[in-house]
This record gives sequence, C-alpha cells and structure tokens, in this order.
Amino acid sequence: MSNQPIIDHLNEILKHEWTGVAQYAQAGFIVEGVWREVYAEKFLDDAKESFGHAQLIGDKIVALGGVPVATRNEIKQSRDLSEVLEFSLAFESKAVEMYSKAIEMAEGDRALVVFLEDILKEEQEGVDEYTKLLRQTAGSAAGTTSTAKTG
Ligand SMILES: [Fe+2]
Repeated sequence: MSNQPIIDHLNEILKHEWTGVAQYAQAGFIVEGVWREVYAEKFLDDAKESFGHAQLIGDKIVALGGVPVATRNEIKQSRDLSEVLEFSLAFESKAVEMYSKAIEMAEGDRALVVFLEDILKEEQEGVDEYTKLLRQTAGSAAGTTSTAKTG
C-alpha cells in the first residue's frame, strides 16, 4: 500500500496547523480592551497547541517517507472579539473534519489511528470550548436584558 495519499492528507493538516499558529498568535497580539486580560493568553496557548500538533504531524510525515510542507493558508483576523471566536470555532471544526478523514484513511494501521485519535480528541475539545464561549457571549447579552427587566 502506498503511503502517498495519507502523506498528502497529513500535509493538508500540517498546513492547517501552521495556519493556526499564525492565526491564533495574531489574535493574541491584537486583542485589546478589558478582554485582553483573558484572551491574549488563551489565543497564544491555542497557537502553541497548533504548533505542538504541527510538530507531531511533521515528524509523522517524515516517518512515513514524505516531506512536510512549510506553507500555510490565509489567516482570518478581526478586531471584533466575537468574530475572532467564530473564526476559532470554524478553525477547530475544520481540524476535527480533517483528522476524522485521516483516521478513515489510516484504517488498518492501528498505531497511526491511535496517534491521530489523540490529536482529534484535543481538536474536539477546541470545538466544545469555542462553542461554549460563543454561547456565553450571547448569554451575557441576554443576562443584561433580563436584569434590566427585573430591575
Ligand atoms: Fe491542531
């Protein structure tokens, strides 16, 4: 069985992870106002998580006999925090999709499946977290309204 199809797909994943490094770092750099206190560190942590995944995937591509890409896709950036959270959720959802596909492609190679599943679990945690953060943003606004009503 040729490794090429899985190597090509892992390279698409690697490109996505490099995009995450730049996109999250940029979000951490530019976030301003009171939320900077919370989100600058959170976004930089997410950049580090993407870097960690890039490292794992790059090493695996070489182990499979391929050459890792050193390019990334365009990043999405905004000064609007809720928009950044939307970009982040989309980024994590895309990662879940890509790793799920990689797992399907790796069927029959148990060790590779387990390796990919470990990362998939973290990507899904990212989806769950950003889903909740976006919900909390809406909830805060609703909370203000209901306070105004009762007050
Ligand atoms: Fe990742």
